Amino acid sequence: MWWSYFYIKCKKQLRNRQGMGKDFCSDSRYTCMQMGGNDEMKTILQAKDLCKTFSNGSVQQHVLRNLNLEIREGDFAVVMGSSGSGKSTMLYSLSGIDRPTLGQVMYEGEDISKYSNDKLAVFRRNHCGFVFQQNYLNDTMDVLDNIMVSGLLVSKNRKRIAERAKELLLAVGLTEEVFHKFPTQLSGGEAQRVAIVRGLINEPQILFADEPTGALNSRNTENVLDVMTKFHENGQTIVMVTHDMRSARRGNRILYLKDGIITGELDLGTYRSGDRKRHDMLRDFLQEMGW
Ligand SMILES: Nc1ncnc2c1ncn2[C@@H]1O[C@H](COP(=O)(O)OP(=O)(O)OP(=O)(O)O)[C@@H](O)[C@H]1O
Ligand SMILES: [Mg+2]
Repeated sequence: MWWSYFYIKCKKQLRNRQGMGKDFCSDSRYTCMQMGGNDEMKTILQAKDLCKTFSNGSVQQHVLRNLNLEIREGDFAVVMGSSGSGKSTMLYSLSGIDRPTLGQVMYEGEDISKYSNDKLAVFRRNHCGFVFQQNYLNDTMDVLDNIMVSGLLVSKNRKRIAERAKELLLAVGLTEEVFHKFPTQLSGGEAQRVAIVRGLINEPQILFADEPTGALNSRNTENVLDVMTKFHENGQTIVMVTHDMRSARRGNRILYLKDGIITGELDLGTYRSGDRKRHDMLRDFLQEMGW
């Protein structure tokens, strides 16, 4: 079963995380603290002195300003910051959707921002999954076909992709009844869970999510967050932008972005439902950051 394969594949990463012991889980600190054990986590993506400038005629807007960041295997990194601080711009540069103006995005020792358009497209397809605020499902295709289209970009094994899509759909809590429904026949939360499955169909090394719960009501928000937490617990690396504290507390790292640079980081450790201390630490951190 694909799901079991995914689980086994990710178990090693999970063991690594759990192996960090108590310090990692309970000793959360403010602003770029070096937590014991983090060295053991492999860096999979690194931004070095990232700058992004948009030009509008003679006016230049410096949105990312020498931003440095590491994403480690098994991270659930949450990016917060006020509107316009550059969160989406950073996500797009990190994931190869867009290119930085200056600086490097290192993936396995290579600077992906120097890739040709074709090579960058292959990088995105093979290594990244995406979920956005809007689900961007194709209304003319049923749920399975929406996912198959993404899967077939990487593998030609239609039967295997269909099996994997069905297993993932069940894993995110949807039933067989939705397989052949069209997106317009789904609730917002169901549609976003389908979008998550589409983002995960090619077993991406990193799932990038830009306000994935931004358009959902609170019940659907919790459903979608539970799904993301479950994948993270099974080893999926996630980078998520959010404005929402409830969403943010699911992450193990909070990165705060202000005027295009990361001004603070909070290491929250492993998520546990109903952890009041975690909520308080996040609230205090955000207050200190001026959120
Ligand atoms: N393609 C573009 N062309 C010109 N300016 C842009 C472009 N994309 C983003 N910007 C500008 O860059 C700034 C940062 O935008 P960005 O979307 O990264 O912010 P954000 O932190 O994601 O905000 P929000 O929380 O509202 O989504 C904004 O002022 C925006 O207008
Ligand atoms: Mg944004």
